[in-house]
Amino acid sequence: MKKIILFAIIAVGFIACTSQKTNKGTATKTPIKTTTPANENMAQGKVLFENNCGKCHDLPTVEKFNDEKWKSIVDWMAPKAKLTSQQADMVYLYVSNSN
Ligand code: HEC
Repeated sequence: MKKIILFAIIAVGFIACTSQKTNKGTATKTPIKTTTPANENMAQGKVLFENNCGKCHDLPTVEKFNDEKWKSIVDWMAPKAKLTSQQADMVYLYVSNSN
């Protein structure tokens, strides 16, 4: 009788190990979402840009300036638009990827 119980325990343990391995296998197949945070920040930057940067003047044309120019424009305008530095970074991420 004891042998059967012992066998059952080993069998359960073995099944548990095998199924864990299968789970790991499928997990690595799932694509890692490394690009998601950047995309989300960009999308948020677009919203921030559209909502905050057309208040005092027309919404600036994104293509009109290069990255370097945008860097100084965002540094200059973010306090005017009362953006946090994090929000300013998102706006910069959006404009520098869309010009
Ligand atoms: C509180 C008002 C205000 C807000 C909000 C504001 N701006 Fe401005 N912006 C100005 C003023 C005033 C000028 C004109 C400055 C000048 O010509 O001396 C200007 C000028 C500009 C220019 C023109 C620069 C050039 O060389 O032609 C750009 C581009 C610009 N802003 C971008 C932005 C962006 C991007 C945002 C959002 C982060 C923003 N602005 C938010 C007031 C604002």
